[in-house]
Amino acid sequence: DSAENLVERPSVVTIMGHVDHGKTTLLDSIRNTKVTEGEAGGITQHIGAYQVVENGKKITFLDTPGHAAFTTMRQRGAKITDITILVVAADDGVMPQTVEAINHAKAAEVPIIVAVNKMDKEAANADRVMQELTEHGLVSEAWGGDTIFVPISAKNGDGIDNLLEMILLVSEVEEYKANPNRKAVGTVIEAQLDKGRGSVATLLVQNGTLKIGDPIVVGHTHGRVRAMVNDKGRRVKEAGPSTPVEITGLSDVPQAGDRFVVFDDEKTARQVGEARSQQALAAHRGEKSIVSLETLFD
Ligand code: GTP
Ligand code: NA
Ligand code: MG
Repeated sequence: DSAENLVERPSVVTIMGHVDHGKTTLLDSIRNTKVTEGEAGGITQHIGAYQVVENGKKITFLDTPGHAAFTTMRQRGAKITDITILVVAADDGVMPQTVEAINHAKAAEVPIIVAVNKMDKEAANADRVMQELTEHGLVSEAWGGDTIFVPISAKNGDGIDNLLEMILLVSEVEEYKANPNRKAVGTVIEAQLDKGRGSVATLLVQNGTLKIGDPIVVGHTHGRVRAMVNDKGRRVKEAGPSTPVEITGLSDVPQAGDRFVVFDDEKTARQVGEARSQQALAAHRGEKSIVSLETLFD
């Protein structure tokens, strides 16, 4: 991509943290407070990711368990997260999976924003959380470090706006960019077989614009994009950078973390798709790979 084709894109955010520290509650809270009534479909639709608008800017949240996402994605060499929200319950403090999350984010070189959750609880102690995280290299700005800490209550919504503002702040500094005027590439967020619709896959478009009718290779399967539904449950004709979208039209069900690439023509997509399908079988027999999608990415 030549630099002049690059435009700002929404940041892609994952939420991580120890069990029961409030990851799901936070995702639900952001979704419920920020998805307007006109987009009520967004409340019921589940496609594994959603977008909200804060101060005129979009933010994409991956609605999958952060650890699982990181592990499978990283195994496949895909980097899909721009920012990690590390949720730490203020009454419980740093726990083993908190540390695991920090290590995942550090290994992937993804910036961390700490959401100190459950501040509504009597036993909440934000200072203790800050102190404990210092030992893991996350030093609050208030204490001369460069980690953003936001006290929140995912349960009653306190601090959520502030958290979103901080995401926008980090996005501004990091300047996430993509080229919407190219063929789409990205990663599978989740996929399953639907009785009526066949293979249904939620894709995160990471660069380019995905369009109805595009010939596509997804992991070891291929097809043509038949229909697209956005996170609000609406049918759309195209999806730009950082947009999650559910597609049908694939010959088989891909896996979370699989990459996808759009091709010029269906014939090439089919050839590459079939070659990769053969390759998957060959890999089972211990043979070396023949067609890599990674080389097609940029
Ligand atoms: P796992 O997915 O099981 O790891 O848990 P989680 O991190 O998704 O936590 P979840 O959102 O399920 O919340 C765990 C419990 O904490 C639930 O009972 C929530 O209602 C409660 N909880 C979450 N956030 C808050 C909060 O801000 N304040 C209070 N008081 N309770 C909260
Ligand atoms: Na839980
Ligand atoms: Mg959960």
